[in-house]
Amino acid sequence: MTQIFPKWSNKVPLFLAGGLVVVLAGIVGFFWYFGSPYYTDVGYRPEQPIPYSHKLHAGDMGMDCRYCHTGVEVTATAGVPPTQTCMNCHNMVKTESDSIKPIIQSWNTGIPIEWVRIHKTPDFAYFDHSIHINRNIGCESCHGRIDQMETVMLSKPLSMKWCLDCHRDPTSHIRPDGNVTAMGWTPGEGQSDWATEFISTNKINPPTDCSGCHR
Ligand code: HEC
Ligand code: HEC
Ligand code: HEC
Ligand code: HEC
Ligand code: HEC
Repeated sequence: MTQIFPKWSNKVPLFLAGGLVVVLAGIVGFFWYFGSPYYTDVGYRPEQPIPYSHKLHAGDMGMDCRYCHTGVEVTATAGVPPTQTCMNCHNMVKTESDSIKPIIQSWNTGIPIEWVRIHKTPDFAYFDHSIHINRNIGCESCHGRIDQMETVMLSKPLSMKWCLDCHRDPTSHIRPDGNVTAMGWTPGEGQSDWATEFISTNKINPPTDCSGCHR
């Protein structure tokens, strides 16, 4: 009997099987990578009870972040401002507007405005704003261009990998004094040399060991 298939064809199933494994690994890898926490939740932009705009107040009007987020330099949490802070202006500004009325109502009743929380690390991971701000890391590195947002959006993944990427090499994020709340700051020429020196003179050494963040 003559052979219908040449001898090498015996290996075809093997090739097919091997190819299938590679393709499957590719598919799994694809979802693993893109589905991993590095990407999850970026873009989360919940509707807020009042259409408060950072673009208007922090962007167009140029208000400093610390006017409202008073805790950010001195405590672990930045803090969302109480109604009182809004009333500093809105006791006079736009008082007849439908979007201002809930602020006045909150002021009169003493019931706080229920802002929806956007950025949150799990309780088992320790985070502190003040240490980062005092080391000249700008809000923008972790929150993006807040001054351009009508409604705040989660723009960084806040995953462990994301924290560690900066902790291993913060040089491109360290800003000159007085720039932490500036928006649109970009590292200039010589940033790498300048920052490397700043890091060594100030002995900046972000934790990369597990107990640094899981205490
Ligand atoms: C006039 C007061 C005011 C100013 C100025 C202001 N914010 Fe806010 N910020 C708020 C209020 C109110 C909220 C809660 C509602 C919301 O998320 O929009 C908030 C929310 C946020 C959040 C999201 C908090 C969360 O729930 O995760 C971030 C991040 C933030 N602000 C950063 C900034 C930065 C950076 C600046 C400066 C560029 C700034 N803010 C300036 C009032 C202010
Ligand atoms: C430094 C003064 C100031 C502070 C503090 C302030 N605002 Fe305003 N706000 C303004 C001004 C000015 C406008 C623009 C009014 C206009 O369009 O003529 C405005 C507009 C608004 C509008 C849009 C109103 C409309 O009908 O167009 C909302 C909503 C608002 N602010 C919410 C808030 C909230 C919430 C807070 C507190 C977290 C706050 N503002 C704190 C000055 C302030
Ligand atoms: C190194 C990264 C980093 C920097 C820099 C940073 N933040 Fe945050 N921010 C976070 C993380 C992470 C959270 C969530 C924290 C948590 O759940 O405890 C957060 C939460 C917040 C919140 C809501 C919860 C809270 O703490 O009250 C506000 C408001 C905020 N940041 C404002 C700011 C402002 C304003 C600045 C600059 C002055 C700033 N952040 C700088 C990472 C950062
Ligand atoms: C953009 C850069 C950057 C990002 C992102 C960042 N960090 Fe840091 N972190 C730093 C720097 C710089 C320091 C200061 C180190 C020093 O002072 O030696 C620091 C210090 C710390 C410390 C030490 C505090 C202490 O008491 O010594 C902790 C804990 C920490 N970061 C947690 C986190 C966590 C959790 C995240 C992610 C949610 C995060 N960081 C994201 C730059 C960053
Ligand atoms: C710079 C801060 C930082 C360091 C250092 C760090 N972690 Fe984390 N870790 C985090 C944060 C933030 C989260 C929460 C991530 C999220 O919510 O997606 C986390 C989450 C985890 C989780 C939960 C699973 C997950 O992926 O959400 C485990 C387990 C973990 N870390 C173990 C470790 C171990 C082991 C080390 C040491 C090799 C370590 N971590 C070092 C910040 C850190």
